[in-house]
Amino acid sequence: MSEKSEIYETVTKEIFAVIDGEPSATARYASAACLLSGAFDAYFWTGFYVVDPVKPAELVVGPYQGTLGCLRIPFGRGVCGACAATGETQIVEDVHKFPGHIACDSRSNSEIVVPVTDTDGNLAAVLDVDSTEFGSFDEVDAKYLEIICAKLLVGASQA
Ligand code: SME
Repeated sequence: MSEKSEIYETVTKEIFAVIDGEPSATARYASAACLLSGAFDAYFWTGFYVVDPVKPAELVVGPYQGTLGCLRIPFGRGVCGACAATGETQIVEDVHKFPGHIACDSRSNSEIVVPVTDTDGNLAAVLDVDSTEFGSFDEVDAKYLEIICAKLLVGASQA
């Protein structure tokens, strides 16, 4: 198993141990962002954009670790918006080549964005991880982040 996979195995267990029994989705997002951010040097910005319940085709920033992120992203705009619009993980080796990429911090060079679904299977948020290096993310990141995001809200009963 690669070193990256081993770190993911450990941090995935930590996240689920910490959020076990916690009803607040916000507390779950914040704990996952904190633990993932601390696990990898490549994680420069790590956090969640949640579906705005008032404007359902718009994401609003949620718990994150990193420099100031933009507050709102319409579905379809940038990498996060592409993930929200398609419901599919986005792996971007060079964000500067991604049409409509939103440059919250010019130091970000690659990113991965993974959908978070609620227990009914509806999109609740996206997990956005940005790196200062090019090509930081691959199928290993996608595999583990999708496992985390698929179960992050199981047991959550409040915003
Ligand atoms: N890079 C994202 C915007 C969010 S920030 O980087 C924190 C995008 O294009 O979706």
